[in-house]
Amino acid sequence: MRLVIQGKGQIGGTCRVPPDKSLSHRALIFGSFATGETKIRNLLRADDVMSTVRCLRGLGVEVHQPEPDLWTVAGVGGPNLKEPSGPLDCGNSGTTLRLLMGLLAAHSFEALLTGDASLQARPMDRVAIPLQKMGASVQGRTERYLPPILIKGGRLRPVAWELPVASAQAKTALLIAGAFANGTTTVVEPFKTRDHSERLLQFLGARVVTEGRVVSIVGPAKLTAQNLEIPGDPSSAAFLVGAAAAIAGASLKVRRLCVNPTRVEFFRILQEMGAHLEFSNEAIVNGEPVADVTVTGSALTAYSPMISQVPLVIDELPILAVLASVSEGVTVLSGAEELRVKESDRIRAMVSELSKMGAAIEERPDGWRIVGPCRLRGAQVFSWGDHRVAMSLAIAGLLADGTTVVENAECVTVSFPEFPNILSELGAQVRVE
Ligand code: S3P
Repeated sequence: MRLVIQGKGQIGGTCRVPPDKSLSHRALIFGSFATGETKIRNLLRADDVMSTVRCLRGLGVEVHQPEPDLWTVAGVGGPNLKEPSGPLDCGNSGTTLRLLMGLLAAHSFEALLTGDASLQARPMDRVAIPLQKMGASVQGRTERYLPPILIKGGRLRPVAWELPVASAQAKTALLIAGAFANGTTTVVEPFKTRDHSERLLQFLGARVVTEGRVVSIVGPAKLTAQNLEIPGDPSSAAFLVGAAAAIAGASLKVRRLCVNPTRVEFFRILQEMGAHLEFSNEAIVNGEPVADVTVTGSALTAYSPMISQVPLVIDELPILAVLASVSEGVTVLSGAEELRVKESDRIRAMVSELSKMGAAIEERPDGWRIVGPCRLRGAQVFSWGDHRVAMSLAIAGLLADGTTVVENAECVTVSFPEFPNILSELGAQVRVE
């Protein structure tokens, strides 16, 4: 599938975006080992989350969709999953694979976790090594533990572990394993990352304490199923909000977004760049702050993120590269080597594709340097099989002169299947071919 976008487009109006991906995975996975039936409203229906559903079913968990907007998970109430009859296919989803490693570490059967070519190239050592320290047996390819991952767990020892990389997925995997160990498991992050797991585990009844970058969980934790509602995904909203921010005079409202402080750094950066943002209708939904976000576009100025901000905008860096290209001044991104092991090497992908559109972007080992503003011009560009690259390039196309074709754009279904439709409802000229 390819997206054809007419440049110098306008967008505006009011919309909703798909439910949050991180929260959707956590609601399903935490629900799977809670006691009782978890009811989830507004679960994200996208490939990554369906990978989690498929794997949980493969582990004997009853996951059903009795109504269009209701999913139920029958919690097995502890380390009571069933041995799978074959490999567990996590598709493109790193969150599925890493979080399930934490869960399977507490089970005494053998399981094989695998995924598509992109996932099989992503390192799992950040999870495998501490889980081994807790007592699980974990095997992967090469010293980086590339999938497929063979894991066999059992009784776990609590651990105090300092993560070498800022990764919410790795932190969450250890908190899940820690929920089954006898005693307190402590995880130290080099920089703060999204804290959905801490909030949701606590909401379900676990004893989780956070002091700065140190998070601990007391095991064995007893989780009790709850009714959950998933708010909108700020990382999906970022493509639309970012586009409107860069179009002078555009005004866009996105309703009922998750505005957890560890997820809104992108919006703060947009404000630093000169966009006007307003938060309204604030509420708390199962421990997560939600709000409507309204953005008014203007000419933007360059902003170079601090290293401590990088993990908080890790998923928004591709769209930030697009915005940096049309902003006045020089943007330097450093400390973002993690981008090389995402769904694609996002540094190479963005440098290569934005260059084709005329951006003055230069690759660095741990980021990029961009000189703006430049007049982007429409081009034929490629998604690199990465949903966030595809959507960022579509927005670059909207801001460019002429027509842009984003090839291999089918990957948007990983997190935001309605992206082309919503973009066109907001006034952009987008065609799916
Ligand atoms: C996620 C954490 C981040 C992010 C991913 C979702 C999560 O990955 O990029 O899209 O749900 O915990 P890392 O933990 O690898 O940084």
